Amino acid sequence: MAFNWDDSLLLGNAEIDEQHRQLFDHFEKFSLSCQEGQGEEVLKELLMYIDEYSSQHFSYEEAFMAQHEYPKLPEQQLQHAQFRDTVNKLWEMETDNADEHQLSLVVYRKLILWFIQHIKNLDHEMVNHILAQQHN
Ligand SMILES: [Fe+2]
Ligand SMILES: [Fe+2]
Repeated sequence: MAFNWDDSLLLGNAEIDEQHRQLFDHFEKFSLSCQEGQGEEVLKELLMYIDEYSSQHFSYEEAFMAQHEYPKLPEQQLQHAQFRDTVNKLWEMETDNADEHQLSLVVYRKLILWFIQHIKNLDHEMVNHILAQQHN
């Protein structure tokens, strides 16, 4: 499981890029701990972090899009809300004492890959659109 930051995730908005990079710092720490066989201890911590991070990051992006009257704000809001639902479901799995190894695979597939896809597609399109607007 490799999910290191790579510059293809840079979108050209300093604040959003910095927020995305901070998230990947946490993913990298999680990955290292998994390799050292400490995945279980950090899993809960990672879920807590993602829960708080996503709430703040999505609010920031949504306010930014509203401010620029971005037409695809509803699509972003929907994806953000679906992601928050997934995080809540994972919390339930965690508190139900689900198999930790299974849970870390789910975290990887559902949360980390989701972020990579979301940044490369919807966030990328959004930043491009707003940058183009500002240069007109
Ligand atoms: Fe984002
Ligand atoms: Fe987003």
